[in-house]
Amino acid sequence: MPPATAPSDGGGRPAVRVEEVPAEATHDLRWRVLRNRRPGAPVVFPEDGLPGAFHLAVRHDGAILAVASFAPEPTPYRAGRAAVHLRGMAVDPPYQRHGLGRMLISAVTDLLRQDGVGVLWCNARDSAAGFYARLGFDTVGEGFVLPESGMAHHVMLRDL
Ligand SMILES: CC(C)(COP(=O)(O)OP(=O)(O)OC[C@H]1O[C@@H](n2cnc3c(N)ncnc32)[C@H](O)[C@@H]1OP(=O)(O)O)[C@@H](O)C(=O)NCCC(=O)NCCS
Repeated sequence: MPPATAPSDGGGRPAVRVEEVPAEATHDLRWRVLRNRRPGAPVVFPEDGLPGAFHLAVRHDGAILAVASFAPEPTPYRAGRAAVHLRGMAVDPPYQRHGLGRMLISAVTDLLRQDGVGVLWCNARDSAAGFYARLGFDTVGEGFVLPESGMAHHVMLRDL
């Protein structure tokens, strides 16, 4: 894989780039990475159907290596501010820790700022809290366990 820092193919190689994709394009990574390939595990989120929901992917040479989904949804931690809820953040395991998650968050924060959105928030798995913290997210509130995964989470948010 080429360096995942810029959508450049200066060396004639296929570019690594962030693209908007339909919800269905996220399902395979959601299932493999977030649902541990559990047969029949749901890969459609209720937020996918919200007005204004969209999905981004990191694509390289036709393959989708990372996905994340976004929907306008307020958070009580920033009442009154335009907020977007991040869900389904998943990087294909061989490509984790290569900067692809950072690419996705960087791309979306640029887009959201242009649209006047003030805060990006998520229910972060505690196992991924270090990732969000590196990208400028703060932890707010008490921890909780989400029933669909049984995993410990905290709300994390980034003011834009
Ligand atoms: C968590 C995840 C989305 C991060 O994406 P990634 O492409 O692997 O992360 P990046 O390479 O862009 O990492 C950016 C920074 O965060 C750090 N980081 C990444 N994952 C981390 C983790 N789980 N814990 C602590 N730090 C982490 C990286 O070391 C890097 O640090 P640096 O700034 O010092 O270089 C990805 O590893 C993943 O899909 N994990 C499994 C599914 C998951 O937990 N999803 C999140 C659900 S809320």
